Amino acid sequence: MSGGAGPQSAGKFITLEGGEGAGKSTQIRLLSNALERAGQEAVTTREPGGAPGAEIIRSLLVEGAVDRWQPMTEALLHFAARVEHVQATIMPALAAGRWVISDRFSDSTVAYQGYGHDLGQSDMAALHKLVLGEFQPDLTVILDIPVEDGLARAGHRETAEGEGEDRYERMGNDFHSRLRDGFLDIARRNPERCAVLDAAGTPEKVHAEILDLVEIRLGRVLT
Ligand SMILES: Nc1ncnc2c1ncn2[C@@H]1O[C@H](COP(=O)(O)OP(=O)(O)O)[C@@H](O)[C@H]1O
Ligand SMILES: [Mg+2]
Repeated sequence: MSGGAGPQSAGKFITLEGGEGAGKSTQIRLLSNALERAGQEAVTTREPGGAPGAEIIRSLLVEGAVDRWQPMTEALLHFAARVEHVQATIMPALAAGRWVISDRFSDSTVAYQGYGHDLGQSDMAALHKLVLGEFQPDLTVILDIPVEDGLARAGHRETAEGEGEDRYERMGNDFHSRLRDGFLDIARRNPERCAVLDAAGTPEKVHAEILDLVEIRLGRVLT
């Protein structure tokens, strides 16, 4: 904390969630630009990953055979990476007054492992509590799109998240349908923190809706 006239105010933590190809990376870029224009220092980051140790764990999760892990192993690897991400990247940035925008966070583990792999949302929520306590985003934007439209978009991505990082995209359509329902259920259970946006609109339309949410939920006007 800097000295001087009282404690520096903490930054805000925003997460973008949704299935493959929903437009998370696109919207994070647009939001980050809007914050920059407003003179707000911001850090963009992603999961799995976002810290040196977490990026090593990432490659175990996003590459290789679809069935290489037991579902619970996968859930624990995501949370192990998340501890590194929160401690090494997110908390220090928030404490310094920066805003943090993360491409995925705990809700993805609830949706992918809890609903997609049927481990159940309550066990994933219990894991979050054990590992991170009450730490949660200030705002979570869930981008909702029909499964096939999202996967089609993801297939056309020019900048792949990374070469060979398509393990989750290769999981079946049933898996992707369960995780879409999972995200919608997460939003219903956490209405103060989460908002669902229709991701089928143009990038500009979705961006404008995100700016509205930042104003309504976080009290920060951005243009
Ligand atoms: N609202 C949109 N309408 C049409 N195409 C989009 C939209 N948002 C993103 N795209 C395109 O779809 C692909 C996937 O978007 P991306 O932001 O990478 O999704 P995600 O990060 O959620 O997987 C990219 O090629 C991107 O340019
Ligand atoms: Mg992306």
